[in-house]
Amino acid sequence: MTTYTPSPNHPYKHAPRLPEGDRVRLDDVLPGSGPFEIEIGPGRGGFLFERCAARPDVRMIGFEIRLKWSAIVDEKLRQAGLGSRARSLNADARSELQRLAPDASVTTFFLHFPDPWWKKRHTKRLVMGPELLDSIARLLIDGGELFVQTDVEERAALYDEQIAAHPDLEPAGDAPGSSNMLENPYEARSPREHRVIEDGLPVHRLRYRRRVRAAVTDQS
Ligand SMILES: C[S@@+](CC[C@H](N)C(=O)[O-])C[C@H]1O[C@@H](n2cnc3c(N)ncnc32)[C@H](O)[C@@H]1O
Repeated sequence: MTTYTPSPNHPYKHAPRLPEGDRVRLDDVLPGSGPFEIEIGPGRGGFLFERCAARPDVRMIGFEIRLKWSAIVDEKLRQAGLGSRARSLNADARSELQRLAPDASVTTFFLHFPDPWWKKRHTKRLVMGPELLDSIARLLIDGGELFVQTDVEERAALYDEQIAAHPDLEPAGDAPGSSNMLENPYEARSPREHRVIEDGLPVHRLRYRRRVRAAVTDQS
């Protein structure tokens, strides 16, 4: 996947991005202590703020493909005094997560209402897919969580099928063996989630957990 270079006239061309390099350490993006959580596609960023308020111990990074929203939200986080533990970076999560290190360093991934594309010719834009799931599984700690929400029933079924097919992820919903969750247990909602709830529409929620990695034995 090629890196997108904004046009020189784009008003948000200075949106913050990950540093250059094949491997970018999370600790170099947000130094300090506390578990890392990643939101893919934070849009206007409401979840980042609400989650930071609910969990003052976590460090949060949002990866947002739109220059405008990544720039505005990152600036607002800074203005709110959260810049040392929460960032909104401009990135295509599918390619940029591949550069993050180390493995097994993220406690939770959030995807709230991803992929607002419906036309067949837009299929290549879909963020959810094997490439993204491989990065998520690599970066999650053992037992770490992937939480996905959507208001589109067919999309929930598709996501469930795709995630269930990943060998390193197992369902962790309300009932054993199921990924479905009735509620969002993270004490924070995304802007779209607030709107869907206000409109009285159903939200489909899925949770998966990273399987425990096999122990590496020294045969020498
Ligand atoms: C329907 S909006 C939902 C926004 C927010 N998560 C919410 O629930 O209010 C989907 C978001 O995902 C972002 N997005 C789509 N594809 C992406 C990708 N490949 N990498 C990062 N962000 C992406 C879009 O720009 C948009 O902000």
